[in-house]
Amino acid sequence: MNSRTRISRRSLLRSSMVALPGLVVPFSVFGADSPRPCATTPRQTAGPFYPLGHEIENDADLTLLKGSATPARGEPIVVAGQVFDAQCRPAAGAVVEIWQACWSGRYNHLLDSNPAPLDPRFQYYGVSRADEQGRYAFKTILPGAYPATANWTRPPHIHFKVRAAGRRELVTQMYFAGQPLNEADRILMALAPGERERVVIPPQPPPSGGDPRGISMRFDLTLPA
Ligand SMILES: [Fe+2]
Repeated sequence: MNSRTRISRRSLLRSSMVALPGLVVPFSVFGADSPRPCATTPRQTAGPFYPLGHEIENDADLTLLKGSATPARGEPIVVAGQVFDAQCRPAAGAVVEIWQACWSGRYNHLLDSNPAPLDPRFQYYGVSRADEQGRYAFKTILPGAYPATANWTRPPHIHFKVRAAGRRELVTQMYFAGQPLNEADRILMALAPGERERVVIPPQPPPSGGDPRGISMRFDLTLPA
């Protein structure tokens, strides 16, 4: 039994509702061990749309802005997981940033020339600080696909940047299993097949008693050595 298995059985299986700073995960994504080995998460480009620092909010719930009663448009999802270091130890206090397009495939960024509409109710960017077991969580929406070039449409994906004290930074992207555009994506297909498996995540249906509206994604991240 490796250290990750011990961690998972001790701390993850017991939780059906997980409260993390800034967010209560509405249903568990920590209810099962990750099937993926604790190998370094492949690096991928940050792309051109990393936030410029003008964000009005950066909490872990991207679906609802402060003072708004109306959620962002799109299918709500929970993205959560555990951050590990290169020795497969939980990266306590890791800072996990995400940024993504809204439901229409548009980023809230000056460099995005996509004519698709912006969603004024969507947060586009968020930060989750991992707990002592390296667990992070976000509530967001399924991002839309968007044109990268005239003959290349990027599949739905979420950008990640992960930092932890004393460790090297990781920049990567998470994809949704079953999306037809995945197989034609130049960034995803540039990874080796074994690496793709670590960033293409199968959605999990909510457990009985969970939020019936949403799906959850468990995306564990292992920092580079
Ligand atoms: Fe992107």
